[in-house]
Amino acid sequence: MAQESAATIQNPFTTDADVAAGEKYYLAQCASCHGRDGRGGGAGPDISTGNFKRATSDEGLFQIINKGIPGTVMPGAPYNAGQVWRIAAFVRSLSIGRKNQTVAGDAAAGAKLYSSLGCVKCHSTTAPDLKGIGAKRMVSELRTSILDPQADVPSSYWRVGARMRDGSIVQGFVMNEDTFTIQLLEPSRGLRSISRGAVSHLEYDRRSPMPSFKNRFTGSQLDDLIAFLISENPR
Ligand code: HEC
Ligand code: HEC
Repeated sequence: MAQESAATIQNPFTTDADVAAGEKYYLAQCASCHGRDGRGGGAGPDISTGNFKRATSDEGLFQIINKGIPGTVMPGAPYNAGQVWRIAAFVRSLSIGRKNQTVAGDAAAGAKLYSSLGCVKCHSTTAPDLKGIGAKRMVSELRTSILDPQADVPSSYWRVGARMRDGSIVQGFVMNEDTFTIQLLEPSRGLRSISRGAVSHLEYDRRSPMPSFKNRFTGSQLDDLIAFLISENPR
């Protein structure tokens, strides 16, 4: 049985309202050490850069905020899981510069590239909606997403193929998994939960279905495309 380690869990609470709620908890519980803007200043380090010494994933960030860091003054938070996720969303937002991102490109030219390069074909169907992406990702992250889509593929876009003990094959995107079950999104049938015990062979494909556009741009075209993506109406 080829079985790989469980996917890391992504933050389920990342809307603007979640971030705003997280900010309130943060100001009450964390700002005294990490500063109102997360840049440090009290007993805590700068946590505004998006790179953490002790966490590389949303899940890691959750654990730190939930449990604290034993052996240091960093306390656990007296909040429930939903609240901790919202604090994590706020902490993540500090590095993103949610507003006023600019790039020296021509958004109208970028809009044309968005359809001529075929982005719209996927991103209006199975791929993530890019509306408002400028508030969620830094320009540098967008650049990486376009030039090197394999760099950081969210687990919800990993595909899994399972051969079941009854001989049938199940394929889909991994939405969630735990010790006993795997929740899959099957493109034709919707969400489905399979029991690990009923699986005889499991294979993960962690590649992004998105092709690299590395050699597809000339001059300022990539900047134009990104200017379009972060403009108010990315469609
Ligand atoms: C009493 C001061 C204090 C408070 C309050 C506090 N922290 Fe910390 N925090 C620290 C210290 C000190 C560290 C560094 C520990 C270490 O790595 O040695 C830390 C580390 C962290 C880290 C990991 C940084 C990294 O680079 O890995 C995160 C994230 C974090 N804190 C978030 C929070 C959040 C969110 C809150 C509020 C729920 C909070 N902290 C409350 C002192 C504090
Ligand atoms: C074959 C389908 C496909 C095409 C064509 C495609 N994408 Fe994607 N794209 C995806 C999928 C699926 C993801 C999510 C998985 C991942 O992050 O790789 C994604 C992710 C992204 C992300 C990251 C989104 C996030 O939440 O961080 C950006 C930005 C993006 N695409 C932009 C583009 C642009 C711009 C184009 C055209 C130049 C394009 N894509 C073409 C399928 C596609």
